[in-house]
Amino acid sequence: MKLRKLVLISSLLLGLTPLCLGQNIKGSPHDFTNTTTVNTSGELCIVCHAPHGTDATAVPLWNHGTTTQIFSTYIGYKFPQRGASTITQPDGASKLCLSCHDGVTAKNQFGGRLQGTSGTQQLLGTHASNLGIDLTNDHPVSFVYNTALAQLDGALKDPSTATTSLGGTIATDMLDINGKVQCPSCHEVHDQTIYRFGKISNAGSALCLTCHNK
Ligand code: HEC
Ligand code: HEC
Ligand code: HEC
Ligand code: HEC
Repeated sequence: MKLRKLVLISSLLLGLTPLCLGQNIKGSPHDFTNTTTVNTSGELCIVCHAPHGTDATAVPLWNHGTTTQIFSTYIGYKFPQRGASTITQPDGASKLCLSCHDGVTAKNQFGGRLQGTSGTQQLLGTHASNLGIDLTNDHPVSFVYNTALAQLDGALKDPSTATTSLGGTIATDMLDINGKVQCPSCHEVHDQTIYRFGKISNAGSALCLTCHNK
């Protein structure tokens, strides 16, 4: 029976989903292959990465234009007044995300192999995805999260020992090479399997509770 076969196949596919983690960018809001205004190449990765001739100051192999905006950073309630860590201008991968999500840098603005803007600038609209250049109302990013900060805070897990549902520690799974919280601490830019490109599902606030001891 066709229907039963379909159900079987789709449940098999659902069962296989974990194997596809990190490969679910196709058809997501980060798939620009269907748009002639951003990218006519039909390629998936080229909007953000190219194999050669990329902007050497932005890794990994960044082909997109990099934001030049000055952002207002998180002011905080107790943080960063605790003094263990300072918030700088967005750096690392956060700067890459903000190279579209600042609402100022065009989606079709390139900086590596492709240069300048291809056609009319395509900005992110006025919806929630446009974080703007005022990050005072966003979870802090681009600061070091280490054992010392966890101790000062008192309600944060120790990133070097606390484990995550991804199998490693907070430090290995969620912080960047400099030990910083960045946008990819919570998001997986290439995978829409979890709501809003989530890195860990936030059902029951599981994402938040990975780091915060509340
Ligand atoms: C919308 C922009 C965007 C698109 C499209 C995109 N990437 Fe990325 N990619 C990023 C950003 C930002 C990072 C750095 C943050 C991170 O590691 O998650 C990254 C990191 C990476 C990394 C290094 C870290 C890791 O996850 O292993 C690889 C490899 C990579 N991308 C490959 C690809 C490939 C292959 C494609 C196309 C199938 C692609 N990316 C499409 C934005 C993008
Ligand atoms: C090349 C431009 C570009 C880059 C780089 C980029 N994004 Fe996006 N992102 C978009 C666009 C366009 C949308 C869809 C906006 C809309 O219509 O709501 C989007 C949507 C999203 C959404 C909402 C998804 C949903 O389900 O509605 C999240 C979350 C997101 N991006 C996170 C990130 C993060 C984190 C990074 C960096 C690791 C990043 N993006 C890098 C262009 C980009
Ligand atoms: C501490 C975790 C965390 C960090 C860090 C983080 N996000 Fe998010 N983000 C989330 C969660 C969770 C959602 C889903 C919110 C919801 O819809 O309930 C979200 C939603 C979004 C959305 C969808 C629009 C919206 O407001 O719901 C975009 C776009 C986005 N994030 C981009 C970014 C970018 C860019 C950065 C870095 C500057 C970033 N995020 C840093 C957790 C985070
Ligand atoms: C990767 C680890 C991590 C995740 C995941 C995370 N946070 Fe945080 N968060 C931090 C760190 C580190 C700080 C800054 C340290 C401090 O509070 O002194 C912070 C700061 C905050 C603050 C500001 C505290 C202040 O003193 O101003 C709030 C509120 C907060 N997080 C809420 C959340 C929520 C809600 C989520 C889930 C959507 C979340 N966090 C997910 C690590 C994380």
